[in-house]
Amino acid sequence: MQNSPHIVLVGPMGSGKSTLGRALAALLGRSFVDLDARIEQAAGCDIRAIFAAEGEAGFREHEARALVAALAEAPAVIASGGGAVLREDNRAAMRESAIVVYLQVDAALQLQRLSGDNTRPLLQTDDPAQTLARLQAQREPLYRACAHLIFDTSSLTAEAAPAALAHRLHALQDSPA
Ligand code: S3P
Repeated sequence: MQNSPHIVLVGPMGSGKSTLGRALAALLGRSFVDLDARIEQAAGCDIRAIFAAEGEAGFREHEARALVAALAEAPAVIASGGGAVLREDNRAAMRESAIVVYLQVDAALQLQRLSGDNTRPLLQTDDPAQTLARLQAQREPLYRACAHLIFDTSSLTAEAAPAALAHRLHALQDSPA
């Protein structure tokens, strides 16, 4: 996996992109890039503040810039934000320079992981479960469209998931579709 392109994790909020991404990067001896953290660093404020000042459209501009910058660096494991697949340009850039992994998660587990979260502006609604279901219905086809690999973490422990994903990635490299 040393000379292969980036690995980009896509999928909904709460699917474990950052946790699994960090562990996978350590396993593969690569650096890990958390796109949301990069956006906050570049903007000098957190994602809530970006949404408050510039709205979702403004946030998507920051996100697209951070993605292009990350993809131009040495091959890494990159955890994208749940909405990074919304733009066609982002999807094309990811597919072009990375192996894209769609992390699937069971809706109940996702909700449990995100319960009480106040850092994600899109989740600050009266009914987060309904919001997540609506976002997933919109985005599922986009996750699938840009993924080279679909990986469901729901039944795996946090300890087992990185090695299982690394195994799938190696198998993909040995026999690309
Ligand atoms: C978003 C997901 C968040 C973050 C922002 C918007 C989305 O990232 O980029 O709050 O549109 O789903 P995570 O998927 O890492 O939570």
